[in-house]
Amino acid sequence: MDTAQFISKANTNSVEKASFTWQTPSNIALVKYWGKSNPQIPRNASISFTLNNCHTITTIDFMRKRNSELDSESEKVVDFDLFFEGKQKDAFKPKIAEFFKRIQEYCPYIFDYKMTINSENSFPHSSGIASSASGLSAIAMCLMSLESELNPDLSAKEINKKASFLARLGSGSASRSIEGPMVVWGNHPEIEGSSDLFGVQFPYKVHPVFDNYQDAILLVDKGEKQVSSTVGHNLMHEHPYAESRFTQANENLSKMSEILQNGDIKAFVNLVESEALTLHAMMMTSNPYFILMKPNTLEIINKIWEYRTENNSNICFTLDAGANVHVLYPENEKEKVNHFIENELSIYCQKNHYIYDTVGLGANKM
Ligand code: DP6
Repeated sequence: MDTAQFISKANTNSVEKASFTWQTPSNIALVKYWGKSNPQIPRNASISFTLNNCHTITTIDFMRKRNSELDSESEKVVDFDLFFEGKQKDAFKPKIAEFFKRIQEYCPYIFDYKMTINSENSFPHSSGIASSASGLSAIAMCLMSLESELNPDLSAKEINKKASFLARLGSGSASRSIEGPMVVWGNHPEIEGSSDLFGVQFPYKVHPVFDNYQDAILLVDKGEKQVSSTVGHNLMHEHPYAESRFTQANENLSKMSEILQNGDIKAFVNLVESEALTLHAMMMTSNPYFILMKPNTLEIINKIWEYRTENNSNICFTLDAGANVHVLYPENEKEKVNHFIENELSIYCQKNHYIYDTVGLGANKM
C-alpha cells in the first residue's frame, strides 16, 4: 500500500511558534466497521453520516524546541501536555502518546515541538458517545495546519486526505470525521477513490431525501464503554462468522451506495437496522461474548417499530458498540418525530437525556 505518499516533505519554512484550533465532528456508521488488521486496516469498507452538533474543539499550541532541548536521534520523544475541559488529563495521555508513535514516521516534525493540547467536547463527558473519532480527527487537523505552514504547497485536498490517514492511525472511525456529509473508509470496488488508508467523501450524487438527515442520540447508558474498541475489534479475529460478516458488509455497502443515490428510503431503513443488529450479533456470538444493549435499548427499538407502522414513518435506529440509540429520520418528519422522542422515548434515557443532531459537513477551522 502506498503509505510513502504521506511522509511529510522536507520543510520549506521554519515555524517557531504556532497555535491552531479545529472543530471536528463525531460520525455515525450506517455500514459498520468491526474487525481490523495491523496497522489499523479495516477488514471491510464502512460508510457513515458525519454529524454536526456532536463535536470536539481542540487547540494545539506548538512551541519549537531550542537546539539544546532537542533529543538525540536515539531517544526522541514526543513532548506534549494534555488538557481536557481546562484540566490536565494524564489519564488520556497514553492513547495520544500511542497515536503520536504511530504517526511519527509521517510527521517527523512533531519531535521538534513542545505541544500543549487543549480539548473539549460539545457532548457531555461519559455520555457513552465515543469521542475518539472527533478527538483524534481534531488533533490530526491541528497537525496538518502546522504541516501546511511548514510546507505551504500542500493543497486543501492533500491536507484532508493526510488528516484522515493520520486520524485513522489513532482510531479507525476517526478517518471518517474529516469531511461530510457521508464518508466511506475502506477499499471497495464500487466506490471510486476509496481506500483502506483514509476516508473519502461518498463520490456520487445523493438523493435529496437524505439532505439534512436527522439523528437524535438517546443516551440510554452514559457509563464507560463496557468493551473498548481494541477488545471489540479483536473479537473478530477468532470469530466463527467473521469472514461472512466482512463479505456481507461489503455487499451492504454496495446496496447502501445504490440506496443513497436512488432515495429508496424503505430499503435504507431496512439496511441500517440490519447493520446495527448484525454488529451486536457479532458481539453476542464472539468469545468472550457481550450484550451491550440494555433493557431500555430494546424498549426504544420496539417503540420505534410501533411508531413506524402506525405513522407510516421512515424513522429507524442504529447502534454503536454500546447501549445508546441513534434515531435516524428525514428532515420532513422532524417535527412529528421530535414530539415522539420527547413524549415517548426520553423516559428510557438516563436522566431523560438525548441530543438532537443532523448530518454535517466535517472539520472546521476556528
Ligand atoms: C462500532 O473506530 O472506535 O463504532 O479503530 O479501534 O479506534 P478503533 O475503533 P473505532 O471502532 C468503531 C466501531 C463502531 C462502528 C463504526 O463506527 O464503523
